[in-house]
Amino acid sequence: MTYEEYYGCQLDGLKRVEQVLLDIIRKYPTQSYPNGVEPVLYCKTRIKEPESMIRKLERRKIPADGVTALEMIHDAVGMRIVCSFLDDVYKIASWLRTCPEFEIIETKDYIAYPKPNGYRSLHLVLSFPSVSNQKFMAEIQLRTIAIDFWAALEHQMKYKKNIEHEKTIRGELKRCADEIASVDISMQTLRDLILNDQWN
Ligand code: GTP
Ligand code: MG
Repeated sequence: MTYEEYYGCQLDGLKRVEQVLLDIIRKYPTQSYPNGVEPVLYCKTRIKEPESMIRKLERRKIPADGVTALEMIHDAVGMRIVCSFLDDVYKIASWLRTCPEFEIIETKDYIAYPKPNGYRSLHLVLSFPSVSNQKFMAEIQLRTIAIDFWAALEHQMKYKKNIEHEKTIRGELKRCADEIASVDISMQTLRDLILNDQWN
């Protein structure tokens, strides 16, 4: 099924929201960073594929049409912001709270409270003011590059069935996630020492 078939006339709105997110992150002020230091390494957006949205709705036993999807599911539009350092993840999230284009209606801090599998990211759920009675939501995920690397591999497990040595693999992934978390903290401390801006 195509995006047009599934989301119908709502697709234009979803694309607009996606563009707003891309425009906003470009406005993040970077003057306080030393030359050549970029707080955002990269940024990706996507509109959830119809198949993926339908699967999600079916899992939740909700009617799987495109209209219900946008009423019930907040991540039809998603943006992932990948940073080098933990500090930037939180600084960008604080700055996003000040943006007038949307309201942040929910924050899920899986960095402070990791998932049992070791997943760490900061998720923000956004609500945009309604245009002609249509309300849009979006999800922003912020994480470090080290976690992003881990999450990409861990995500592969979701689509594999009958994985050999699954328990061992999950255990090793958890161990890697915890090591990455520790390295992320060390890297942050080292950067602060190098730049001497520990509490700015
Ligand atoms: P879904 O997980 O999408 O059904 O939504 P939710 O309301 O449970 O939100 P949650 O914050 O748990 O996850 C939203 C998104 O975060 C997912 O679609 C993934 O992109 C990402 N995510 C959440 N948990 C994990 C995880 O354990 N591993 C990886 N790799 N990604 C995750
Ligand atoms: Mg989930």
